[in-house]
Amino acid sequence: MFKTLPQSDPAEFAGRRVVVTGGSRGIGAAIVQRFLDGGAIVVASARKATDETPQAATFIPGDVSTPEGVRTLATAALEVLGGVDIVVNNAGAARTHLGGIGSIPDEEWVDALALNYLSAVRVTGAFLPALRESGAGSVVVNISSGMAVELAAPLAHYGAAKAALNAYSKALASELAPAGIRVATVTPGNVLTPGADAIRQTLADAQGVPLDATTSAIPLGRPGDPRDIAEAVAYLASDRAQWVTGTNLVVDGGELPIA
Ligand SMILES: NC(=O)c1ccc[n+]([C@@H]2O[C@H](COP(=O)([O-])OP(=O)(O)OC[C@H]3O[C@@H](n4cnc5c(N)ncnc54)[C@H](OP(=O)(O)O)[C@@H]3O)[C@@H](O)[C@H]2O)c1
Repeated sequence: MFKTLPQSDPAEFAGRRVVVTGGSRGIGAAIVQRFLDGGAIVVASARKATDETPQAATFIPGDVSTPEGVRTLATAALEVLGGVDIVVNNAGAARTHLGGIGSIPDEEWVDALALNYLSAVRVTGAFLPALRESGAGSVVVNISSGMAVELAAPLAHYGAAKAALNAYSKALASELAPAGIRVATVTPGNVLTPGADAIRQTLADAQGVPLDATTSAIPLGRPGDPRDIAEAVAYLASDRAQWVTGTNLVVDGGELPIA
């Protein structure tokens, strides 16, 4: 099971202004909490807050899969924060299709791209002037997926969108490096969250195996806890990673066949 870590430095992110999309639950909520624990001022966004949404963050409702939703979020967040230093593009979701790639309807390819790829492009674009104003030391972290490299038919649309996100992150890192703005990607493996648990249940049911079987082959012996991913994001967003950009940090208990 997850080992509770000693209290993180409560001043590590003091004064840093952070926006986390998909911050209402699961990995996003853990990322929001991790920045709050480090003293940051945090805006969490999603379509709806939940019981898991950290109360000490300012919650701004919004749909980041549309250009209007992104514009509204950026305007409201910049008003609350007065600028931004760290943007975490975490919002994402997938719908499983068990009838092969051909069974994924056209509109779902479009939706998958809009939510899992274009949301990050648009959110980053909307905050970029503010990030440039914040200057060297500001950071963008994009949350990808192992499905970007291990493309599986039931989630091919989602995996393709995350693969696009990886390519975009790399290009963005090169472009923003001269301004001292860093860009990193985190690739989670199997992490226990409301969204991913529902997907795993569908896949387990289709194979006629218990839910546990979908995570039993993880070399480190357990599925991920959202805090495992939040810790990686905190490292990448901190000055401890000041010479790290364009990287894709895989946090997966050793499961994925990539470094
Ligand atoms: N958990 C895993 O095993 C795993 C593995 C690899 C990658 N990931 C990635 O990690 C990220 C977080 O996943 P999770 O497992 O924590 O999922 P989750 O529990 O389903 O949480 C997803 C978050 O994104 C928000 N969201 C979804 N659609 C949105 C939209 N259109 N506009 C704004 N916000 C939206 C959700 O809130 P609302 O629905 O209220 O909007 C929620 O806050 C995702 O990018 C996912 O692809 C997760």
